[in-house]
Amino acid sequence: MNNPIPDLDPRLRQRYQLARELAEEAAGKGLEFYRKRVSLKVEHKAGDQQDVVSIADRELELFIRDGLQQAFPEDGILGEEGGAQNLDASFVWVIDPIDGTACFLNGLHNWCVSIGLLQEGEPCLGVIADPNHAELFHGVRGHGAWVNDEPLSASEAQHVREGLTGVGTFHPEGKQHFMPFLQGLLDEGGMFMRNGSGALMTAYVAAGRLIGYYETRLKSWDCLAGLVLVQEAGGRCNDFLRGEGLLEGNPYLVAGASVYDQLSRLVGPSLDG
Ligand code: IPD
Ligand code: CA
Ligand code: CA
Repeated sequence: MNNPIPDLDPRLRQRYQLARELAEEAAGKGLEFYRKRVSLKVEHKAGDQQDVVSIADRELELFIRDGLQQAFPEDGILGEEGGAQNLDASFVWVIDPIDGTACFLNGLHNWCVSIGLLQEGEPCLGVIADPNHAELFHGVRGHGAWVNDEPLSASEAQHVREGLTGVGTFHPEGKQHFMPFLQGLLDEGGMFMRNGSGALMTAYVAAGRLIGYYETRLKSWDCLAGLVLVQEAGGRCNDFLRGEGLLEGNPYLVAGASVYDQLSRLVGPSLDG
């Protein structure tokens, strides 16, 4: 695998290399599960019919955790399926083994493996593997971000009418802010899309395919890898990790730098409240 950043701190270089390898391998394993998805038993989390999980999510997370722990036993890990361990460590991995599980289980090609890394509490590298489209999004804070070998660059749109805005919400909290945002976006001539994977929509903001992406509430494993990509691609994000953001999640906005303020106004005070 090419290393686009030859002068990287060795501690980050090794982790960056491993994260890309594990994400690609996990995505390949995910594809095998995806092809036999009709035979997977589906469970619903916490009584929410829309919040689904299967053995594929659990096996992929175990695979990734195992690979990380073998190489870096001193690091902490937070994963959607396996929970948190050693969060006081200098490096903490934040993993979503399948982001877009509802798409995965319904045969829609919008899902990915997301692996992010915090260094002393700051997002420092991100890798998102999308096997359906043969795309690996990856980047390191201060060094750039790419999709496969192509540099990422966020949208230069100045107004929401100039492109597509990703959106999302979930049932337990925050959905009351969703329709007012959509109304405002449409009133200003914007248009929305939701593909069911917060990690992929974040990567698409970094790639300039979406001008921005708002979700009424996300969890850190949905977006931590993507946050590095957006920042490296010249985009902006809200203060997602504030308060209990790492463990509990927060409202979430990422966008091209010149359209961020307009989208932030459309969301209103709930964004950083
Ligand atoms: C979900 C996706 C979705 C978002 C939900 C997330 P999952 O993650 O990112 O786009 O709207 O809030 O929970 O459950 O597929 O890992
Ligand atoms: Ca997720
Ligand atoms: Ca998930």
